[in-house]
Amino acid sequence: MTKFLIKGGRALEGEIEINGSKNAALPVLASSVLFKEKIEIENLPNIEDVKRMQELLDKLDADGRIDYEIAKKFRASILPVGAALARFGKVAFPHPGGCVIGERPIDVFLDGWKIMGAKTKLSKSAPADYEITAPEGLFGVDYTFKIPSVTGTEALIMTAVLAKGTTILRNAVLEPEIKYLADFLNANGAQIAGAGTTTIKIEGRSGKLLNYSTRFIVPPDRIEAGSFAILGALLGKNLRIKNFVAGELSTFLVLLFNVGVEYVLENNSIIFPAKGWSAFGGKDAYKKTLRASNVTTKEFPGFPTDLQAPFTILLTQAEGQSLVHETVFEGRLNYIQDLNKMGSRITLCDPHRAIVYGPTKLSGRALESPDIRAGLAFIIAGLIASGETSIGNIYQIERGYENIDYRLRSIGADIKQI
Ligand code: EPU
Repeated sequence: MTKFLIKGGRALEGEIEINGSKNAALPVLASSVLFKEKIEIENLPNIEDVKRMQELLDKLDADGRIDYEIAKKFRASILPVGAALARFGKVAFPHPGGCVIGERPIDVFLDGWKIMGAKTKLSKSAPADYEITAPEGLFGVDYTFKIPSVTGTEALIMTAVLAKGTTILRNAVLEPEIKYLADFLNANGAQIAGAGTTTIKIEGRSGKLLNYSTRFIVPPDRIEAGSFAILGALLGKNLRIKNFVAGELSTFLVLLFNVGVEYVLENNSIIFPAKGWSAFGGKDAYKKTLRASNVTTKEFPGFPTDLQAPFTILLTQAEGQSLVHETVFEGRLNYIQDLNKMGSRITLCDPHRAIVYGPTKLSGRALESPDIRAGLAFIIAGLIASGETSIGNIYQIERGYENIDYRLRSIGADIKQI
């Protein structure tokens, strides 16, 4: 079985680029179902979730059947469902799989499709958990999300593009990925107004497919950018992170500043200067540079839940008590038990709150990656720990990060696959 083997204690120097965004690429790939022709996407990250989405779309035919085995591997398999329903008048699919970070229901999607005129049938086994039909077609509606959902907003935008009449989606999320999707669809003939605000208006095309004309260039991954910045904060020594879109990480950058991390923003890069290098800068070096800070995860533009685990690693090196409040998912603090085995002192108060007491010295050990983001957090922990860390179940990391070991080696990290 493949693992990452990490030896901690090396400074990270030189330049590293942020790759294309997973969560911007996935909905645009799914939107190909709305098109008459093939679509072109540039800067697509070569990661497992993107490969699964391509396989899923390759297998999708006019029966509207979403492949059970593939869909069970990732949450974003829900993304093409609404488009398939609108295009084929029926769709059968399993409850989506993905990271085990909470319950992850799909009720806001189902409510939306039902209100638009679809009929839902539940079955309890393979090859489909849900069978949805829309014999009369789908109709534009005024729909309010009872819970703001990222993929929910994306899926219902795509459904509404082929519905009859106008759809208004209220309490929509503000994540940048929504605007990327809407801009791409609009450039190819859709009429979507208000993406990036809480109210989105879509003029339905009554089943008329989009004609492809304009390619999508996948923007840099803001979560990879934030995670690399945390590495820069801990280990950077004249480290430049390129393709860094600061405007998508403003809450994160304020927190980084509060913790006392020194960084410079310059020409789409974030730079961690040599004098900010602290993690191995001598006895008690952490104490001099990093301060405890509370963090609460929220929908955009709040602090992203996908950066909570990497940020907690940073907080283990900060002086004082930090409260980590995870408000989005109830299972996203599960990695803390393993982190404490490396030497951190974190008290889990309840599924949503943890108190980090710092600074603590971490030491390497054998870990398994629980999900994409906690997996990357373990890589960061291994890189600042003394001794050797091994991380298994690396499929979970490769779902979201392309060639991560190779890329981190290029800036000086001691990480390899065995
Ligand atoms: N929720 C419901 N009902 C629903 C849908 C969501 O109760 O029908 C709840 C969820 O349980 C959660 C909250 O609403 O408590 C927000 O979840 P959301 O639906 O926004 O999450 P998602 O769309 O499944 C996307 C990203 C996640 C990211 C979250 C939050 C993609 C493919 N996934 O998930 O990314 O954490 O938004 O920002 O865009 C990752 O990349 O590792 C990842 C998990």
